[in-house]
Amino acid sequence: MRVLVSGGAGFIGSHTVVQLVAAGHDVLIVDHFGNSKPSVVNRLEALTGTHLPVHAFDLGDADKTEQLFSSEQIDAVIHFAGFKAVGESVEKPLEYYENNLGSTFSLVRAMRRHGVDKLVFSSSATVYGHNPSPLVEDMSTSATNPYGWTKVMIEQILRDVAVADPSLRIAILRYFNPVGAHASGTIGEDPQGIPNNLMPFIAQVAVGRREKLMVFGDDYPTADGTPLRDYIHVEDLAAGHLAALRKLTQTDEAVSTWNLGTGHGTSVLEVLHAFERAVGRELPYEVVGRRAGDIAQSFADPHRANAELGWAATRSMDDMCVDQWRWQSANPTGYPDA
Ligand code: WQD
Repeated sequence: MRVLVSGGAGFIGSHTVVQLVAAGHDVLIVDHFGNSKPSVVNRLEALTGTHLPVHAFDLGDADKTEQLFSSEQIDAVIHFAGFKAVGESVEKPLEYYENNLGSTFSLVRAMRRHGVDKLVFSSSATVYGHNPSPLVEDMSTSATNPYGWTKVMIEQILRDVAVADPSLRIAILRYFNPVGAHASGTIGEDPQGIPNNLMPFIAQVAVGRREKLMVFGDDYPTADGTPLRDYIHVEDLAAGHLAALRKLTQTDEAVSTWNLGTGHGTSVLEVLHAFERAVGRELPYEVVGRRAGDIAQSFADPHRANAELGWAATRSMDDMCVDQWRWQSANPTGYPDA
């Protein structure tokens, strides 16, 4: 199939592009490079050995999006593009709603005008709010920040659009905590500014860009007092997208929702120690107060994806750290600017 990947220069998008090409799909990318660098595409073309057409514009521009669908043959869309920083979304709610919802409206309208009927949407475990883990797809959804609300709202919008247009086949994928990097060490996570997320922050401590890890609280009701999360290797996550895309060519379900997680939780200190094993030395940290909004546990029940997609995460926490460290140590300041 010819697959349009929105946000294809981003962390998960780029890893999915590599696997799509390896699986024999044609890929084109749309990315406005607001949170990624054009040099990622050079790395992707080196890894895939093929030219990757890139359309550099904001999907919120309905005219340019329409022009893209008029000029390119597209069979399916994987929609990663969106703002995703929880804290920033609290400071800039209008920008988050306008960008994340507006780009989805523009994209889905163009898909419907041009008969593109398969959509894989990048959602997040954040929509589970305060539900107890293990988290199951038919649980209620809610959010505690505008970013999370954009995911809750877009999921509902897609369910409503699928009722209006029965020809559509939509996969909603709820990611847990994506980490790691491609085994080549040439693509990986490159957050702009100070990383919000745990693993890239630890990686930057290990490579000397940050002084020490601040552990946000060790007084949670867990074995070592630090919160549990379901960390999933980005390569397993990418494979889940290909499995979902394949399922959309077979299913009669208009909208399907799947957790992409490992099914078990790892604590902050366990992640830190796994990273220390990958680096081969201890890493400095300090326990400080809790971060607002954090919950004690969040991990998936992945049984539906296992059964219906024939997919399961295979890589261990040590694999995630070894691969992330290979990327970070080979690219201490991330991707080159030019
Ligand atoms: C993991 C654990 C922190 C940084 C977030 C978003 C979610 C999704 C994934 C987009 C927590 C602790 C972290 C640090 C720390 N993003 N931590 N020191 O919060 O589970 O999920 O990213 O979809 O929407 O909410 O991930 O990596 O930020 O935190 O102690 O410097 O690490 O308290 O327990 P989180 P995270």
